[in-house]
Amino acid sequence: MCGIVGIVGRSPVAPLIVDALKRLEYRGYDSAGVATISEGQLGRRRAEGKLVNLERKIIDDPLAGNIGIGHTRWATHGVPNETNAHPHFSENVAIVHNGIIENFAELRATLIADGYVFSSQTDTEVVAHLISRELASGLAPVEAAHSALLKLQGAFALAIMFRGDEDMIVAARNGPPLAVGYGDGEMYLGSDAIALAPFTNAITYLEDGDWAIVRHGGVEIFDLEGNRVERRRQQSIGTSYMVDKGNYRHFMEKEIYEQPEVISHSLAHYLDFANGTARKLDAPFDFAKIDRLAIAACGTAYLAGMIGKYWFERLARLPVDIDVASEFRYREMPLSSNDGALFISQSGETADTLASLRYCRQQGLKIGAVVNVRESTIARESDGTFPTLAGPEIGVASTKAFTCQLAVLASLAVRAAAERGHIDAERERELVRELSETPKLANHALKLAPQIEKLARELAHVKHVLYLGRDTSYPLALEGALKLKEISYIHAEGYAAGELKHGPIALIDENMPVVVIAPYDHIFEKTVSNMQEVAARGGKIILITDAKGAAHSTVATLDTIIVPDAPDIAAPIIYALPLQMLAYYTAVFMGTDVDQPRNLAKSVTVE
Ligand code: AGP
Repeated sequence: MCGIVGIVGRSPVAPLIVDALKRLEYRGYDSAGVATISEGQLGRRRAEGKLVNLERKIIDDPLAGNIGIGHTRWATHGVPNETNAHPHFSENVAIVHNGIIENFAELRATLIADGYVFSSQTDTEVVAHLISRELASGLAPVEAAHSALLKLQGAFALAIMFRGDEDMIVAARNGPPLAVGYGDGEMYLGSDAIALAPFTNAITYLEDGDWAIVRHGGVEIFDLEGNRVERRRQQSIGTSYMVDKGNYRHFMEKEIYEQPEVISHSLAHYLDFANGTARKLDAPFDFAKIDRLAIAACGTAYLAGMIGKYWFERLARLPVDIDVASEFRYREMPLSSNDGALFISQSGETADTLASLRYCRQQGLKIGAVVNVRESTIARESDGTFPTLAGPEIGVASTKAFTCQLAVLASLAVRAAAERGHIDAERERELVRELSETPKLANHALKLAPQIEKLARELAHVKHVLYLGRDTSYPLALEGALKLKEISYIHAEGYAAGELKHGPIALIDENMPVVVIAPYDHIFEKTVSNMQEVAARGGKIILITDAKGAAHSTVATLDTIIVPDAPDIAAPIIYALPLQMLAYYTAVFMGTDVDQPRNLAKSVTVE
């Protein structure tokens, strides 16, 4: 998603803005730009591609000015090039925007009819000219901005400057997040707390519908009707966490190796290892009383929820309805206020997940959220949050957030099972002990890296890969396929192993590697049958199993990855690691942009 930074400063801001934009690179982008006001005049530098290109432009052709706005663009309207890069200008207005203006076409038509000339294909430029037209009608800058905001439909976070005014940025938020940062005689704007980290950790998140006037001395915040509102000023947690790769090649690699530590943080937050109990929670709903749990999420977070469904239903006998949020929010599923609703999101800003949350709110459900960013919109709009404590996840492909989501969901399932009376104290102690082993087992699983890196070298030459699994390994098969496709760009599909004969087996030949995820559990033999069907057709099998599985499998494989023996409740977390490493090393061999894969964004804040 796009990133926004603004500074109302007391010294030259262009280099500071570029540095802050670098902290937003993880969101994914394809061009960038900065605008400032100096000696009353608007100036701008923009560049296609990575921020280093913009930085070079500013070094070659410095940009003066103590007030400025900057932007990293993830293309929605218009190809990624310099012309479409933000900031966009119109006469006396400079603007940057994150989101989608849904009524931009009709606005653009009226503006063209009024004589405005467009230089880009973007919806953002429409807003710039709209404000100019309001100025031309005689409105002062603040009134012109407010009047234009009332004409916009869709999702937007905006930062707007006016030629000649070196003490004001107008900000607005309706959907994508935008935070105001407080400095010493300076003020800041950023898409999130990480962007503002170099300047301050005293921040205020604007709410949907808010717009604000940011000046050296502070900020005034208004609702869409123009009434002054107060918003909470908070110390952001995220800013104290210096985010860099350390001695890893990529953030994704670093985050893969952080998992034993962060999984232990997550588990310790929910489980009392000493007493063998799942901690009592300040939960938004009573697990003992709800009839059903509705879960909605996107991408990898959704797949974590799919695994959670097995645990809630198997351990707590709690029926779970789960859907991808983009379907959940529109299919009008019958819900009751006796249901609980749970939303899973690393960023806490995913538009479809947030929209599903608001749908459940309207239906009168109590809302819980498993989130990694505690100040996020989804967190703030929930009745209770279950933090994953994974620390900032910068790589676009989710790794540690996924396994921490699983750790949280497993802990919640144990707690729910206890509260619903489906497990006794002895069984609870056993499950807590098994989960307490997870960080150690994860550490052992990471030692498989050399074998997996070698295998990845072969995978880097294939065009298609099939992933198969049963039970909780089925969502893992989907996740393994998602990881591979999103960072190596190799087409990969995950399937329930039992579905093989219902179609996918037609794909099997010697060119189709098949990754089979199969702990030696109650359905292992069923999966071995599927492997035999694959082998009989020349398919190359990569089996991920444990020692017993390897000993009992009678099928020849291209390679067998033997992970540490893991109890059922911990297995999905442990088996996720080889899948992540396989995708990572394959992508490294492919030479793709592992941390910021093409076309992807870390947080999808538009539909
Ligand atoms: C994960 O590897 C993907 N980058 C993506 O599917 C992600 O999980 C999805 O966009 C949901 O994001 P969220 O957890 O921030 O809501």
